[in-house]
Amino acid sequence: MNPGAVVPLRESWPGLRAGIICFYRECWRVRSEEIIALGDRYLMRTYARTPIVPVWGRGCLLRDADGREYLDFVAGIAVNNLGHCHPAVVRALREQAGELIHCSNLYYIGPQVRLAEWLAERGPFDRAFFCNSGAEAVEAAIKLARKYAYSRNGTGRYFVVTAEGSFHGRTLTCVAATGQMRFRQGFEPVTPGFRHVPFNDLEALDRATAAGDVCAVMLEPVQGEGGIRIASPDYLRGVRRLCDERNMLLIFDEVQCGLGRTGRLWAWQHSDVRPDVMALAKALGGGVPIGALLAAGPAAETFSPGDHASTFGGNPLACAAALAAVRALEEEGWIANAARMGEVLRQGLEELRRRHAVVREVRALGLMAGVELEVPGDPVVGACREMGLLINCTAGNVLRLLPPLVIGEGEIGRALDILDRALSTLEVRE
Ligand SMILES: Cc1ncc(COP(=O)(O)O)c(C=O)c1O
Repeated sequence: MNPGAVVPLRESWPGLRAGIICFYRECWRVRSEEIIALGDRYLMRTYARTPIVPVWGRGCLLRDADGREYLDFVAGIAVNNLGHCHPAVVRALREQAGELIHCSNLYYIGPQVRLAEWLAERGPFDRAFFCNSGAEAVEAAIKLARKYAYSRNGTGRYFVVTAEGSFHGRTLTCVAATGQMRFRQGFEPVTPGFRHVPFNDLEALDRATAAGDVCAVMLEPVQGEGGIRIASPDYLRGVRRLCDERNMLLIFDEVQCGLGRTGRLWAWQHSDVRPDVMALAKALGGGVPIGALLAAGPAAETFSPGDHASTFGGNPLACAAALAAVRALEEEGWIANAARMGEVLRQGLEELRRRHAVVREVRALGLMAGVELEVPGDPVVGACREMGLLINCTAGNVLRLLPPLVIGEGEIGRALDILDRALSTLEVRE
């Protein structure tokens, strides 16, 4: 072509368009590199962060600052049960932000009261206390159990028994409660008064509670950080019986497994073993930080004014978001969807187990799934990410899949396909 000739726009457009996209990609890339560099410079090194800068999310999709899209099977580690930016949560936040963002718990807060009512109507629970995170909800549960025992039996009955492999949060009391040594190493002395027993072992629990110095047993019906380990219904029934016989409170930590994640609103509904006390957080706020302590019967009457408090706990903005989130979860049928899609996911993962020798076991309840490998899981997480799927690894060798409950069959199929290819690359490398 004559170099001086004018190229008609129709012909030059594809090249021009590619150039514009390249230019924008480059701008964003520079931006994401800058954020990562600043983060490495100014943030404490508490997280082993993946070099991705998420900037946009809708449903099960997450887009990063470089314009790459991911299927998000991490979902904020079981926070985004409704997917990203659910319209009802966004609307509630906008409306509440225009009315009243914060006021003290010295007053009655409308959305907080309504949220407590919603939660109380869906379980054996009579009263709620609101805080900002799972660790705070667990701490509040432990305080409640100790005060409950103290007000009935006086001092000396303050032990809380939890399970090996459990995870209950990062405060000094929560790491003491957590049944994994690595979370407390270097931080000792932690809060005294905890005993750990093997999970799913009723005889061990019997022995650990025989001395009469235990005020509560605290369990996750499905251990999340511990590698998606599911409590057997028989075990939970036995635990309930022991708690009743020995006047101990039964606390369920449903911070990760609650709110529809397992295909029922509460994970304990799979066994119908009701707790006296339950800790919630994560998915409760539809992405906004909020935690809750729920209690039933006499346990709910334990605290008196001055016993416990939180400045931000249950503030109007967080509770408006949470109320919208829990209503959408129920009214739009996402819990039933989690049960259905959980089965699709479980079957697909079982199929992968049959095809890949490196997969040792699949454990799943609803959309809380773990794939235990014979080898460390991080390379598979990395390979999945390269192909556009976000998952994470817990307990060293368990791939954890926690997709939003709004997931569809097509998205699960895509994720399984990527995981299949990621497992194959692992086998090729071996
Ligand atoms: C079962 C369980 N309890 C408590 C916590 C602590 O929650 P947070 O990180 O909101 O303090 C977690 C967090 O992963 C959890 O999975």
